[in-house]
This record gives sequence, structure tokens and C-alpha cells, in this order.
Amino acid sequence: MNITMIGTGYVGLVSGTCFAEFGFPVTCVDKVKEKIDNLKQGIIPIYEPGLEEMVKKNAEEGRLFFSDDLKDSVRKSDVIFIAVGTPTREEDGSADLQYVYAAAKEIAEALTDRYTVIVTKSTVPVGTGRKIAQIIKAANPKADFDIVSNPEFLREGSAIKDFMRPDRVVIGCETARSQAVMEELYRLLALMDIPVVYTKIETSELIKYASNTFLAMKVTFINEISDLCEKCGANVREVAKGLGLDKRIGSKFLQAGPGYGGSCFPKDTMALVQIAKEYGSPVRLAETLVDINEKRKKAMATRIISACKGSVKDKTIAILGITFKPDTDDMRAAPALDIIPVLQENGAKLKIYDPKGMKEGAKLISNVTWCDSSTEAMTDADALVILTEWNEFSSLKPESFKDIMHGRIIVDLRNVFDPVRAKEAGFDYNCIGR
Ligand code: UDX
Repeated sequence: MNITMIGTGYVGLVSGTCFAEFGFPVTCVDKVKEKIDNLKQGIIPIYEPGLEEMVKKNAEEGRLFFSDDLKDSVRKSDVIFIAVGTPTREEDGSADLQYVYAAAKEIAEALTDRYTVIVTKSTVPVGTGRKIAQIIKAANPKADFDIVSNPEFLREGSAIKDFMRPDRVVIGCETARSQAVMEELYRLLALMDIPVVYTKIETSELIKYASNTFLAMKVTFINEISDLCEKCGANVREVAKGLGLDKRIGSKFLQAGPGYGGSCFPKDTMALVQIAKEYGSPVRLAETLVDINEKRKKAMATRIISACKGSVKDKTIAILGITFKPDTDDMRAAPALDIIPVLQENGAKLKIYDPKGMKEGAKLISNVTWCDSSTEAMTDADALVILTEWNEFSSLKPESFKDIMHGRIIVDLRNVFDPVRAKEAGFDYNCIGR
């Protein structure tokens, strides 16, 4: 069974590589020729643990190919995945589907009389699958195809593991023929007793938005509870533990922090708000959490300024971590992008270190000093701010770095340090939720 994966972003590149690892011949297609040329040479556009090795292995073993010729690849394929971007529209927060529809049109023009299954892997609003079917039928009335929705739940930083061992696979398909193809694709996962949920296309499309919004809601809930903890003397870590041990709630996604970011939660929560409005069935919880999260990210800058005794003017602040979470170089909707400009407007001098994010960061953040290590960033700084919980920051010892700093202020927005130890080392230690 030949597979074409259209789009070599996070979802497309990881999914395509993992299907090759399952043993299928896969061609990953992208319009950006430079990206394809790089991939052919084993140069990966993103940082994702284990991905480079897996791409290399499958390319060498003759199962993974890269091409900028969509039509050529589509003609030879049995299954075509659409994994192009669905960015947020500035005007109303809805998902911009221009790349999805453009891909559908191009697929239609290339389809032959060979039966083809066209699968949406991109996160697409409810109703998109049927719209794609209409586009293809209109452009190529003779095409023999079925549409399937198969949303992807992988997380950045653990993408391969998430694809290979997901909690579940969701498939929206409505014909026996297309279901048989999808069963074959996911046979290895079904053999490992990973639940594969078959459902209607609309249901599958909505499951993805509902999942991401629910997770974003969990994070937002614990963030608000952390604010309350600070006021009433409770400890958010212990509250989260006590809360999460209830199996109906679960312990994951209850880590308080500066607000959620990334390429999915902000985009998908906003898109769900729009989808629900369009169907005349507003999801007010989602509307509220979008608002709370936006305000929270901005409020973090005020928190840092307050910790610096009300002013950061001419103060040197070391910032460790700028990516939206660890183990990725992704800066999309990272809280750092809301916090850093406010500190700069208030006159702070910033020294920044991030293990993988500085190349992306430099495209979005200017007038700062980029450092090669956490030690370099902290040297002579008046305050230290932790924005991302990279492992290498959690292992730093306040008593060891106190003497290289000029000041004694820590603002730990990811709770990576032990408060007792930080205070014993002489720091004015500010963290989240206690
Ligand atoms: C998310 C979904 O988890 C994944 O299923 C979907 O396919 C894509 O979107 P990702 O964006 O890679 O994945 O990151 P995730 O690990 O879910 O974290 C999202 C944001 O929430 C990050 O900013 C993270 O820092 C924040 N978060 C997460 C918390 O603040 N606390 C938590 O307890 C968990």
C-alpha cells in the first residue's frame, strides 16, 4: 500500500516517517522545494527527539521518499494524507483552510481510476471532510475515492512515542472499503491492543477539538487554582496531586505554569469557539479559557516586575527557556513572546539561554543577549527567570549559581526549583501557586 503524506510539518513528517517505520512505502510531499532538498539529505527542519535517526533509517532502507511533485506521488498512491497547516485567521480565530482546499484540488486533478483513500490528518473544523469530497467530485467527477478523518494527537517533544503508542486512534470513515484500508494501516497498533475508534467523519473531526480544548481547560483550571493557592496559603503541587489521584480527573495536565502555548492549544481552542458559534451552539467554557490564558501570559511580565521590587529598569535579567515547552525548538504562542516585550518596554536588559530554541527565538525576539549556557546567562544578572522547564534547568542548584549572579531574585514560572533550597541559598524565590 503506497502512501503520500502532503505537508512536512510536525504532524506530516512524524506521521509519514512512522508509517514508513510500520513498513509502508511513504512519499512525503511539500511545496517548499528547499525543505524537500534538505530532507533528501537528511536535514530535518524541526528539533524532535529521535526523528532524524528514524528518517535516515527509513530513507536508507528504501521506504521513505521526499518529493515536491504532488501529482506524481498521488498518481501512485492508495492512501493520501493531508497534513498541511491550518493556521488561525487573524480576523476571527477560525481555522484558515486555504492550504487544505488547495491540496484537495491538486489531488483531484491527479487522481486516476485507481481507488484512493484521502485522509485528513490536519486538525480541520467539523464539516471539512465533506467539503473536501465536494471539491474533489467537482474537479474530477470520475474519481473513485473515499474521504476519511484521522486526527493526530501526537505532542511535540514526544511525537514518535505518541504516534507509535497512542492512547487511541480515531478514524472517521463511512464505507467498508475505506475502513479496510485504515485497518490495514493501523494493524500493528490494533495488534498491540491500542483502541481504534471508528466513527462518523464529523464525530472524528470534533473529537480532536474537544480533546485539545479539554486538556487546555485542565491546564487553565490548575493555573487559576494556583493563583488562589498563592492568596490563601495552599500549595498548588499538593492540590494537583490530591485532585489528580481521583481517577475520574487523572493526574496529567495539572502542572501550573505561565499559560499554555504551542501550535495547537491556542489555535484549536479558538477554532472550536468559532465552529461552535457558526453552528449556533456556543461553548462558553472554551471562550472563557481562551480569554483567561491570553491574560495570564501577559500577567506573567507584571509578576516578574513585582518580584524585582516594582522596576526592571536597567536591571539585567537572565531568562532560561523560551520555547513553549521543553524538548522542542518551537516558539509558536510561547509565553516568552508575551513576557519578553513587556520586560523590554520597562527597560530590562535581557540575557537569554535556551537549549534548542534560540535559532527560532532570534527570528522573533531582538535586542537581547543570546548566551551559550545557563551560566553565561546568569553571570552578573540581577534576577533569574525560568520560562521553560528543560531538564537541564531543574538540575541547577541555587546554592551553586548564587555567587555568579549579582542579585538574589528568582522568578520560577515552571516550579523547577525546591523553594526551601532556593530560600536557604539566600534567594528571594517566587514561584507559581505556593
Ligand atoms: C498538544 C496535545 O497534547 C496533542 O495531543 C496535540 O496533538 C497537539 O497539541 P503540544 O502542543 O505538543 O500537544 O504540547 P502539550 O504537551 O500538550 O502542551 C501544551 C501546552 O500546555 C504547553 O504550553 C505546556 O507548557 C502547557 N502545559 C501542559 C501546562 O502548562 N501544564 C501541564 O500540566 C501540561
